[in-house]
Amino acid sequence: DMALISRKGSALVREIHEKQKRDKSRQRFWELAGSKLGDILGVEKSVDEIDADTVVVGEDGAVDFKGKARFSQHLAVSDFTKSKTISQQRQNLPIFSVRDELLQVVSENQVVVIIGETGSGKTTQLTQYLYEYGYTVNGIIGCTQPRRVAAMSVAKRVSEEMETELGDKVGYAIRFEDATGPSTVIKYMTDGVLLRETLKDPDLEKYSIILMDEAHERSLDTDVLFGILKKVVARRRDFKLIVTSATLNGEKFSNFFGGVPIFHIPGRTFRVQICYSKTPCEDYVEAAVKQAMTIHIAGAPGDILIFLTGQDEIEATCYALSERMEQLISSTKQPVPKLLILPIYSQLPADLQAKIFQNAEDGARKCIVATNIAETSLTIDGIFYVIDTGYVKMKVYNPRMGMDALQVFPISRASADQRAGRAGRTGPGTCYRLYTENAYENEMLQSPVPEIQQTNLGNVVLLLKSLKIQNLLDFDFMDPPPQDNILNSMYQLWLLGALNDVGDLMDLGRKMVKFPLDPALAKLLLMGEKLECLNEVLTIVSMLSVPSVFFRPKDREAESDAAREKFFVPESDHLTLLNVYQQWKANEYRGDWCNDHFLQVKGLYKAREIRSQLLDILKTLKIPLTYCGSDWDVVRKTICSAYFHNAAMLKGIGEYVNCRNRMPCNLHPTSALYGLGYTPDYVVYHEAILTTKEYMQCVTAVEPHWLAELGPMFFSMGANVDVHTERGIEERHGIDDKVDVLKSILKISVSSSILATTW
Ligand code: CDP
Ligand code: MG
Repeated sequence: DMALISRKGSALVREIHEKQKRDKSRQRFWELAGSKLGDILGVEKSVDEIDADTVVVGEDGAVDFKGKARFSQHLAVSDFTKSKTISQQRQNLPIFSVRDELLQVVSENQVVVIIGETGSGKTTQLTQYLYEYGYTVNGIIGCTQPRRVAAMSVAKRVSEEMETELGDKVGYAIRFEDATGPSTVIKYMTDGVLLRETLKDPDLEKYSIILMDEAHERSLDTDVLFGILKKVVARRRDFKLIVTSATLNGEKFSNFFGGVPIFHIPGRTFRVQICYSKTPCEDYVEAAVKQAMTIHIAGAPGDILIFLTGQDEIEATCYALSERMEQLISSTKQPVPKLLILPIYSQLPADLQAKIFQNAEDGARKCIVATNIAETSLTIDGIFYVIDTGYVKMKVYNPRMGMDALQVFPISRASADQRAGRAGRTGPGTCYRLYTENAYENEMLQSPVPEIQQTNLGNVVLLLKSLKIQNLLDFDFMDPPPQDNILNSMYQLWLLGALNDVGDLMDLGRKMVKFPLDPALAKLLLMGEKLECLNEVLTIVSMLSVPSVFFRPKDREAESDAAREKFFVPESDHLTLLNVYQQWKANEYRGDWCNDHFLQVKGLYKAREIRSQLLDILKTLKIPLTYCGSDWDVVRKTICSAYFHNAAMLKGIGEYVNCRNRMPCNLHPTSALYGLGYTPDYVVYHEAILTTKEYMQCVTAVEPHWLAELGPMFFSMGANVDVHTERGIEERHGIDDKVDVLKSILKISVSSSILATTW
């Protein structure tokens, strides 16, 4: 049931999109989305009862503005945190009661696993305890987070608790952003940042202790760190490691480090009543909105937390909730309690993200509409109601198709329990599961699949290779990735010229790993040096490292599309990005210019910052900047040299097929190449994503002979090979199964004994 429903998508989301298109009076609403969504809808006072005949709450939680309903005595739940000082709040956390025992265990052991409910104070308090105990005398304290948002928001919170400026004693580092300084002693960072630090400093000398936080999330980088830190622990007797997890599977972590102690922080959670849906719910977005309205109208005080899968659903839900609140207000003479509707997802600007931690004004109820981000990495106090749709969106690599698929999956039972737990932090709460008990028992997996099992490992392979780990199949993974994934990633690196025929790092690969970029992007940069257009390529790579800079507010699609089209370079989305950046530069990097042209100011600033950081790395490698001026054909050729593995050929209007595996891949409607009457025979693309169909993201037209010249392992102009295409270029291999090809390459160039040991 759950799998079927997830594939259908929400009718409410589609309906709201349509409505927003039609309803021009709402134009400003989305323009001001940030501030407006934070606004409180409703009127001053709360009431006991509202008029009969206006609202009805159905058995399954459906709200209807017709029958009888009650407003309970609301609200002011957030009072209990408001009045407390920061130090009182700190002492109130469950972890505080075991502070001394904890420090004792840590001092007696090199590695400790700490288990504690989300919100018990692990992330914000442990670092401070260690600091107070003196662990920063011979090094600093590092704490890793799988999510950037968490690293930033927690560092901010801890700097407040310690009454120091963020970036001073307490700082954070995420990719392309370093908010630490010479006096930083507590450093929060993403697991990816620490992983890259091991390249420069394999023993992590500057740290006296590392906290691997949120280990239960099993992010790719955390999993690789496990293997690497195990070695550091063995080499450095003065180094300590703490692994924290919010779930009870501590044994696995403990066993991995040879049976280290597991410390449980006593929970102080309240009972959470679980309510299941009686039947599978067809449209979980609609159901979530109804449930939230029901709670707001008829439920006791307490804030609401809704789990959805992504930005689109979250925006639609916020919109629907605000609409229904307005409906309610206008359909009754009675005062309606206020509802503060707050979205949170990773792409939301940081200042808006911070709003979820603010207290709602007296009498108002907060309703936080979140992605999985609120499952464990962020703790929000005052939640008494959780509405769990039962789904999560994940990017999963499909090695057969060679593409990432962004898909909605049912969550695991462990996640469902985590989500429910969010309701029991401040008092007994309720969790509404918008799926059946049967689905929970029989359709959900016990725990989430670790990311390492289902993602592209290109970066990891490159990194481990440069850490001189020869045999990847022997690396100490807690749960080894499928061999297919490793082989596939090695194959890709071989294609890019990062690895040689026996799987050793080539010079190009050694340079590629210096950049915090995906392998193909790093190669693109380095090819820019070779083909003498580094300046241009550097800009393109930076632009590809930020979310789309094109701003497309709801209700102003036509206007913003027209603005975007003015930047189009007809043969290339990559060049379109270059064009945008260069025009912005020509206009003195002005913010108002961005606004006038429907461009995201913040995104462009970020791209500029990334550009300067990449430039610094190029300088350390003594690679000089070269310019190609107005000859942008050479830029396209450079793109081709790093992306020939993502080549596609024309099949029909707007329809392409991947040259190697014949998988269909379509131009996205936002592409510069779409619908302009110019459809080149061959293109390369940045990535392919499977959503409703297989779309190519960021496409550039290429000459067929470039493919033959730059990707000789795939393409040739001659006639000595199997598959003939209509347009004069041939493929060397009819590749359906990359692993087969990998083996065939190996047969030609490597002996089977090396095959066994190296691959
Ligand atoms: O890591 P764990 O889930 O055990 O808890 P935590 O993140 O250290 O949170 C402890 C407390 O700090 C909670 O009550 C949070 O509400 C609060 N906190 C906050 O107010 N602002 C943040 N940015 C992070 C945490
Ligand atoms: Mg935490």
